[in-house]
Amino acid sequence: MNIVAISGSLRKGSYNTALLRAARKHAPNGMDISIFDISALPLYNQDAEETFPPQAQALKDAIESSNGVIIATPEFNRSISGALKSVIEWLSRPWGKNSLAGKQILVLGASAGQYGTIVAQQHLKMMLLFLDAHVIGQPEFYLSHAMQKFDESGELIDKETIRFLEQALETLVQRITPQ
Ligand SMILES: Cc1cc2nc3c(=O)[nH]c(=O)nc-3n(C[C@H](O)[C@H](O)[C@H](O)COP(=O)(O)O)c2cc1C
Repeated sequence: MNIVAISGSLRKGSYNTALLRAARKHAPNGMDISIFDISALPLYNQDAEETFPPQAQALKDAIESSNGVIIATPEFNRSISGALKSVIEWLSRPWGKNSLAGKQILVLGASAGQYGTIVAQQHLKMMLLFLDAHVIGQPEFYLSHAMQKFDESGELIDKETIRFLEQALETLVQRITPQ
């Protein structure tokens, strides 16, 4: 199954992007995760909808032809990043062509702080529900104190987190192909 993954952080050393690389590494058999780099997308602007920026269209196409989506969100000032908000705006447009409707979505998040993106994920899940996406409610996945869970090369090394990530990915498989 073909999964598109988006990191809401543009930072080169992003823990959220590293978490998606870990998801790709520990994905269940048959799950192929491609990480879509959102850094080339312009900020959402309704004036640009007529011509639609090619990078935004490419993301819409990738998501529409996928079996499911993973979003790893950072928490910025107790919400999601501006970059991720803008991406969701592109995906929801033009009117009547919402690319997230009906998509199975696993939300993850990694934070340097102790609450592990809880508030950002609440904000994100509210938006995704509004957009009629099928957001996985359980298990929730909050990675806190990220600097202790990755090594210097950005490899996820915390065994419990890896086990939990594998469970979350398995849940995504089950939602996409119920037994
Ligand atoms: C502008 C800004 C706001 C932040 N606000 C929060 C916050 O509200 N909650 C939190 O847990 N961490 C916050 N942080 C710290 C982030 O968790 C930390 O920078 C993390 O590494 C960001 O994710 P990334 O590694 O994927 O870029 C903030 C960081 C920045 C740069």
